[in-house]
Amino acid sequence: MPPLLTWDTKSQPPPIQGQIKTESLVFPKGVDYTPLAATDFASNRLILGDNLAVMSALLPQYEESIPLIYADPPFFSNRRYPARIGRGEDSRKPKEWQLAEGYADHWEDIDAYLDMLYPRLVLMHRLLSPTGTFYLHLDWHANAYARLLLDEIFGAEQFLNEIIWVYHGPSPIRSAFNRKHDTILVYTKSEKYTFNVDAVRQPYDPTTIKTFASSKKAGFGKIPDLARGKVPEDWWYFPVVARLHNERTGYPTQKPLALMERIILASSNTGDAVADFFCGSGTTASAAMKLGRNFITSDVTWRAIHTTKKRLLSENCAPFVYQIFKSGENTAINNPPTQTASPELSAMIRLVNETIEIDPTLLPSLDFWEAGIYTPDQIYHSVAQAVRPLKKKTAPDRLSIPWELAKQPLWIRLTQIDDEQVQLKLD
Ligand SMILES: C[S@@+](CC[C@H](N)C(=O)[O-])C[C@H]1O[C@@H](n2cnc3c(N)ncnc32)[C@H](O)[C@@H]1O
Repeated sequence: MPPLLTWDTKSQPPPIQGQIKTESLVFPKGVDYTPLAATDFASNRLILGDNLAVMSALLPQYEESIPLIYADPPFFSNRRYPARIGRGEDSRKPKEWQLAEGYADHWEDIDAYLDMLYPRLVLMHRLLSPTGTFYLHLDWHANAYARLLLDEIFGAEQFLNEIIWVYHGPSPIRSAFNRKHDTILVYTKSEKYTFNVDAVRQPYDPTTIKTFASSKKAGFGKIPDLARGKVPEDWWYFPVVARLHNERTGYPTQKPLALMERIILASSNTGDAVADFFCGSGTTASAAMKLGRNFITSDVTWRAIHTTKKRLLSENCAPFVYQIFKSGENTAINNPPTQTASPELSAMIRLVNETIEIDPTLLPSLDFWEAGIYTPDQIYHSVAQAVRPLKKKTAPDRLSIPWELAKQPLWIRLTQIDDEQVQLKLD
């Protein structure tokens, strides 16, 4: 019998009653807009909700079918992470930061943390396809516990790698070595799995190339294919996002795109679904999109969903569906909203031919604004969006919309940097 991690409250909670409901379809920049039904549209999904409920609700459709799942849950660090909003992504302009609630990684004890992690790992294992790969990103706080849980759930023989991601950064620590690495545990569902080695090869170090140029025997008879490049080691260096000014979204503990790209290139193929149920700022969705994969991604906070949506919109993303897990019996989404915007606000936005113009005084408080229609099933189709570019003060003050839509009742949604969303019908 292999060693098993146990604690008093270890259990698999029953599924939460409820449904994933489609709130909107998002057509970034209105590209290829056709009024599709939500069911024809769901290859890219952004879902708001606790992932225990979200994953349970996805099981009937996705059990044993997702080729790659990456998870970057809270680390058991017992900290609360604020988000920087507004121009928070610009580290050189501290006067323009505003802080808002990001997410909490706060637990009564390790049992409470494992009560969160364990049932979610079980669900991710169930959703993973028979040839799929699972990456669990943690650090020293909980990786030892997680290794035992994954051995139990996947089988110790399915362990593929322990990846060490190393980075630099300031630290107040004076009584130990600086803790500057994370651990990514990698498990496969079976012996047969995707590993695209040629997609992740790296150039050999110049000194290695020089050594082999001077002596073919330098590798004790093994001559590497210097032109093809080497298979990366299981320790990776990528700078942290704090040092990557063009990637920063202001969301806490955001992971670098390069890290996600290596994982996605190695362990999935073009057109595959890549899932991340702890999406934060949407790094996985963004990397998946850029590499021609589809994404299924979720988070429990509106701030994370808002950040991900904004990020995808500013990256010419393919269309995606935005969904919400609704618990209980009444799972309806209140679309369109019952409360209407004030006449003063409505007067500040107008349609001139096929262009919507917004009064510039509204812009400083907005992260993005969008125009769209409600279809008879009360789903919002967002067909044009104006997004505040990273590190810029405001979003554009006008939006062009597809001409055939200019004749329909148009709804404008304003997403404010402090998380508020206001909607109004354009008269
Ligand atoms: C470490 S962050 C993820 C960061 C992300 N990888 C990125 O690059 O931005 C963890 C995320 O998990 C989310 N989270 C925590 N508990 C959750 C739950 N039960 N369901 C869904 N999301 C959850 C938090 O809101 C937070 O955004």
